[in-house]
Amino acid sequence: MRKILVAGNWKMNGDSAANSELIGGIISGLSGIADSAAKPDVLVCPPFPYLAAVREQIAGSDVQLGAQNVSEHPSGAHTGETSPAMLQEMGCTYALVGHSERRALYGETSEQVAAKFAAALAAGITPVLCVGETLQQREAGNTEAVINEQLAAVLDNSGIGAIASAVIAYEPVWAIGTGMTATPDQAQDVHRFIRVVLEAQDADVAAGVQILYGGSVKGDNAAGLFGMPDIDGGLIGGASLKAADFLAIVEAAATL
Ligand code: 13P
Repeated sequence: MRKILVAGNWKMNGDSAANSELIGGIISGLSGIADSAAKPDVLVCPPFPYLAAVREQIAGSDVQLGAQNVSEHPSGAHTGETSPAMLQEMGCTYALVGHSERRALYGETSEQVAAKFAAALAAGITPVLCVGETLQQREAGNTEAVINEQLAAVLDNSGIGAIASAVIAYEPVWAIGTGMTATPDQAQDVHRFIRVVLEAQDADVAAGVQILYGGSVKGDNAAGLFGMPDIDGGLIGGASLKAADFLAIVEAAATL
C-alpha cells in the first residue's frame, strides 16, 4: 500500500514572520489530526533562505523538509547554486527536480534535470521528479510523448532502480496556479501512463513509487484526486501558503 504524501511547494513566497506563522500553524493543525494508517506524510519546501528556521520549527514534528531545487554539481564555481550535500546538511530529505517553472523560466533541460535527480540521490536526498505537459502539448495530443521524454532522461541516466528511492510528481503546466485542476480522470490517466512506462522496466518499482498530482489542488478537490488508484498525494502550490488551506488538503487525505 502506498502512503499518501502531501507536499507544499512555497515557491518564492513569504518572509520570516509569515513563514514562521505558516509552519507553526501546520504543525499545530497536524497534531490535531488523529494518527491512523491514512494520515498522510507531510513535506514542506520553503525558499532556501528559510530552510534553517523551518528546520528548527519542525524539529520533533512529523513534517519533513525539502528544497525547491538542487544543483547537479557537488561544489565549486557555480555562483548562486546549492549543492545536494549542503541541502542534506540543512536537514532536507527531499528536493524538487525539474519543476515546470525551472524548465520553462530557467531553461532546465531534461538532461540537466536527470543530472540533478542523480546528484540528489547520491547525497541521500529523495528527488521529487516533476513532469508535465503544457496546454499546447496536450491539445496537440502529445501529453504521453512529453511525459515519456521527461521520464526517459532520468531512466537512461539513473536506471529504473533509482526510481524506487524517488517520488514522481505529475504537474500539468496548464493546471498550475490557474485554478484549472485536471479532473480526477484526466490525472489518473497520466498517472497510470507513468506507472505503465515504469512497469515495462520493473513491475515492483512501478507499483511502489509514489506519484503525486500537482496543479490547483485545494481542500475541496483533494479527496477526489487522491482517491484515484494511481494518485498518491499532491504537490501543492498556492494552497500550501495558508495553514488552514494546506491542512484542509491533509485532512481530506486522512479520510481516504
Ligand atoms: P498550484 O497548486 O498553485 O497550482 O501550484 C502547483 C505547483 O506548481 C506545485 O509545485
